[in-house]
Amino acid sequence: MSQNWEMLKKEFAQRIAEANNLQGIETIRVELLGKKGRIASIMSEMQNIAKEEKKNFGMAVNELKQTTEQLLKVRIAQLKEIEMQKKIAEDTIDITLPAAKLKYGTLHPLTIVQREIEDIFIGMGYAIETGPEVELDYYNFEKANIPADHPARDMQDTFYVDNNRLLRTQTTAIQMRVLEKEHDHLPIKVICPGKVYRKDDDDATHSHQFVQIEGLVVGENITMADLKGTLELLARSMFGKDREIRLRQSYFPFTEPSLEIDVSCHICGGKGCPTCKQTGWIEILGAGMVHPHVLEMAGIDSEKYSGFALGVGVERVAMLKYGIDDIRNFYSNNIEFLDNYKRFE
Ligand code: DAH
Repeated sequence: MSQNWEMLKKEFAQRIAEANNLQGIETIRVELLGKKGRIASIMSEMQNIAKEEKKNFGMAVNELKQTTEQLLKVRIAQLKEIEMQKKIAEDTIDITLPAAKLKYGTLHPLTIVQREIEDIFIGMGYAIETGPEVELDYYNFEKANIPADHPARDMQDTFYVDNNRLLRTQTTAIQMRVLEKEHDHLPIKVICPGKVYRKDDDDATHSHQFVQIEGLVVGENITMADLKGTLELLARSMFGKDREIRLRQSYFPFTEPSLEIDVSCHICGGKGCPTCKQTGWIEILGAGMVHPHVLEMAGIDSEKYSGFALGVGVERVAMLKYGIDDIRNFYSNNIEFLDNYKRFE
């Protein structure tokens, strides 16, 4: 049986050229070159070929096969390229499209105020000290001149852990630890920030947990004038350079004399408004000269050395500064509330 090789070549070439995707060309490859394909079937005719023709027939089939393989290879490469280009075109990213906004966190308003106060004191050369929240009665009360049965214990309703341990009610406990630890390394100049706890019912102005910052300076010739200058600088840095301060006599067991400090109202400038309850003044912190007995208990010679201390409530300052009227806002994790403080960071 003779074959028209040229016609076969032409037909195969045409079939291959017509395939227009990779799936189509695979079907054609199987049809032409597969085990049961056209070329295999032509080859199987070899047995019917006269002996002297076999060689030529074999050569011709081989050539047909090779040509077909070559054409397939080229066409497959072409189709792969076409599909790749198509994919690239489809996958193009539109870089002019506005990106989805990232939600990023912010510092908590209490953190912002705490850091602000810390920065003011660090600027005056103070170091920062911390202490345990589960504290010994000894540091929270005894060393602060508040022995058992002292009526001042009633001022701070306490969460007791056991007879000796409690959740500290004041950062004054850290002050007492610092005095004890540093009594041989005077002068002392530290602030002590930290959480404190009181057995209070939560309402708009009370929280069973809040943040205080204690200040302590001990050395030779430390006087009330130093305290006053420090408080003035603190008040003006926090509430504006025109603020005045006013010292009022008060009582704390660990200071003598004890003071309550008012700052002229930053809302009305002192004329009187709802924030300052028409008085022109706002109470911001407690302070005083460290009680000589407290110094002596820590092993410091109260004839030679003196000191001042202060305690400021961070929530209170933040509420005044930002005009927040309910302390519970700080602990409610309300994102809308917290987002207001982004610009203060
Ligand atoms: N510990 C006091 C309180 O929690 C605040 C305080 C007042 C601290 C006067 C002081 C101070 O260091 O001198 O109410």
